[in-house]
Amino acid sequence: MSPKNSLTIAVVSAGAMGAGVGRRLANHGATVLTNLDGRSAASHQRAKDAGMEIVTLSEIVSRADWVLSIVPPSEAYTFAKLLTDAYRSAAPNARKAGLKFADCNATSPETVKRISNLFFDLEIPFIDGSIIGGPPKDDYQPTFYASSNNTEALKAFDFGILRVKLLQGEGAGVGDASALKMSYAGISKGYTALIITMILSAHASSPATAQALLEEMHFSQPATLQRAARFIPDALPKAYRFVGEMEEISDYVKAGLGEGESHIHEGIARLYSTLAASVSGEKNPEHVDVLKGFVETAKKVLEDTQSPTAKQTF
Ligand SMILES: NC(=O)c1ccc[n+]([C@@H]2O[C@H](COP(=O)([O-])OP(=O)(O)OC[C@H]3O[C@@H](n4cnc5c(N)ncnc54)[C@H](OP(=O)(O)O)[C@@H]3O)[C@@H](O)[C@H]2O)c1
Repeated sequence: MSPKNSLTIAVVSAGAMGAGVGRRLANHGATVLTNLDGRSAASHQRAKDAGMEIVTLSEIVSRADWVLSIVPPSEAYTFAKLLTDAYRSAAPNARKAGLKFADCNATSPETVKRISNLFFDLEIPFIDGSIIGGPPKDDYQPTFYASSNNTEALKAFDFGILRVKLLQGEGAGVGDASALKMSYAGISKGYTALIITMILSAHASSPATAQALLEEMHFSQPATLQRAARFIPDALPKAYRFVGEMEEISDYVKAGLGEGESHIHEGIARLYSTLAASVSGEKNPEHVDVLKGFVETAKKVLEDTQSPTAKQTF
């Protein structure tokens, strides 16, 4: 076992990612805490199944070596504020010496800098973290990217259980791990959204147009069709969560390139919002049926053609 397995790590909250990370840490000997005030029965169940100890925020402040914030991006500031408020109101001897905080959410660099300001006058080193990949499972691990203005704390973040890559070097600091995630997610989820938008638009023209689009993609862009078949089913149940993430990416693009370019991911946020409403049945439930039908046909067509001879064109 790792010599660092005596660490006490708070992971808040216990969603798909938080519980997966919590389980991995607990399986490797760490004591894993979480706080679930106001959370659903499902989060409580996930936390218990993952071997996480459900405690108060004050207990986290007094016991944790690390706090990993893994919450919906829109809640990242709120959680950090609650944690820093709990730290401020704790008696000095009820604060764990050496406590460090890592925000691991898909937030824009601007948001994460605003969060880091909450820690400015506290003795809690702040790590900007971001996660690329799905929740840890058996032999699979996502990558945690991390950057910080505190080099010593940054090195300590690689505590030997998670797959960690430190973003160091000239100019690197708080904001960079988040920037990396924004660019990566902006490409991967943005690409999927673009395909979905065009399938739905083709189908709105006529079902025959959507079928013709599928056939043309199979002929001239088979890799794009394979991507559609693989990623559209994955995106549907997560669409509600992608909305906030795409809004963060829009802010990120606005800060780097300008107002006009930021509308790309603003539009993608709207697309995911439309999809989420379709998935829940609230509005336009037929979009989900169209996409599922397209994916089923695409899978069949791709299976029937073992080795497509057409080259991808751009
Ligand atoms: N899942 C992935 O594949 C993945 C991949 C990379 C990065 N991430 C990042 O991981 C973070 C969490 O994603 P997830 O997939 O775990 O989301 P999720 O499955 O939707 O879970 C979110 C969790 O946060 C809780 N929560 C909601 N509002 C909260 C608040 N105000 N304070 C504290 N906890 C709150 C929820 O509790 P209730 O539902 O019980 O209210 C739930 O336990 C996001 O920043 C996301 O970008 C996820």
